[in-house]
Amino acid sequence: MTNHDPDRSAAAVPPGKVSYGSYLKVPELLSLQSELSRPVHRDELLFIISHQVYELWFKQTLHELRGICDYIDQDRPLRAAQLFTRVHAIQHLLIDQLPLLETMFSVDFAKFRDHLRPASGFQSIQFRHLEFLAGYKNAKVLGLVGDDAAARKEMEDSLARPTVYDHLLKFLGRAGLAIPAEVLSRDTTQQYNGDDRVVAALLPVYRDIDSHYPIFRLCEHFLEFDERMSLWRFHHVKMVERMIGGLGGTGGSSGAKYLYSTLGNKLYPDLWAIRDHLGGTYGESAQST
Ligand code: HEM
Repeated sequence: MTNHDPDRSAAAVPPGKVSYGSYLKVPELLSLQSELSRPVHRDELLFIISHQVYELWFKQTLHELRGICDYIDQDRPLRAAQLFTRVHAIQHLLIDQLPLLETMFSVDFAKFRDHLRPASGFQSIQFRHLEFLAGYKNAKVLGLVGDDAAARKEMEDSLARPTVYDHLLKFLGRAGLAIPAEVLSRDTTQQYNGDDRVVAALLPVYRDIDSHYPIFRLCEHFLEFDERMSLWRFHHVKMVERMIGGLGGTGGSSGAKYLYSTLGNKLYPDLWAIRDHLGGTYGESAQST
């Protein structure tokens, strides 16, 4: 799914002949930026490279999230936590990269934007895999990948697979928390919208973190992942508004208006809801107002 074939990579570089350029395929990499504007607009290179770098980091993030699922399945929460630390650092980069693209003036973007139609971030297959694995399950996006039958099949499989949170819930069940059976056997093609019984099962962990530190730490990593996804979405839509105002997107959506509508999505509602129950005078009075 990631186009990563270690045997093929190894075969391409004969033993003892490895160099920086041949190992990293630098000539191939540098040949992959093809502007469409004529005459070429000087900012289009920045636009292309920014997106390509995102795709590379999406690939790495998917790799790490799959590793997190494996560690969770092996009941090794702290190794999963370590990989989450790496994922958060990547997410940090993804957010911090947006200001670089914002050094482009909207008036300059307007000069080459029409050449990109109907290409759009909507068609980022890796972003959809990432969303499905993370927990956004929206079958409607399957229609956005274009005519590529193989990509569509891959995405359908990906939509059906358990999310990283489903792996966590099973682990919590094995660890003795009272996770309801119907949550553990839920239909994983569908979005998980949270369950009060899961919040209740997690409460003892959050009220006594020292006794349950590996589980608590892992849960907090999930929350941080969710928060950073939202921060990226928020900064992306502000950038979109700054670049194209209220215009529709090249992918056919209403643009910033559509993107704003995605901001309220929560990946792991249980972990946000648990904050309402952590006690203390302030917490209790906040709930009653
Ligand atoms: C000038 C910069 C950018 C503009 C104006 C822009 C604009 C848009 C618009 C209008 C949409 C809505 C879909 C549509 O109708 O086309 C969208 C979606 C999207 N864009 Fe961008 N974008 C920019 C940069 C980026 C970058 C650097 C990435 C990194 C990969 C990115 C990734 C995405 C993704 C993944 C979506 C789908 C989001 C969703 O469906 O929730 N965009 N973008």
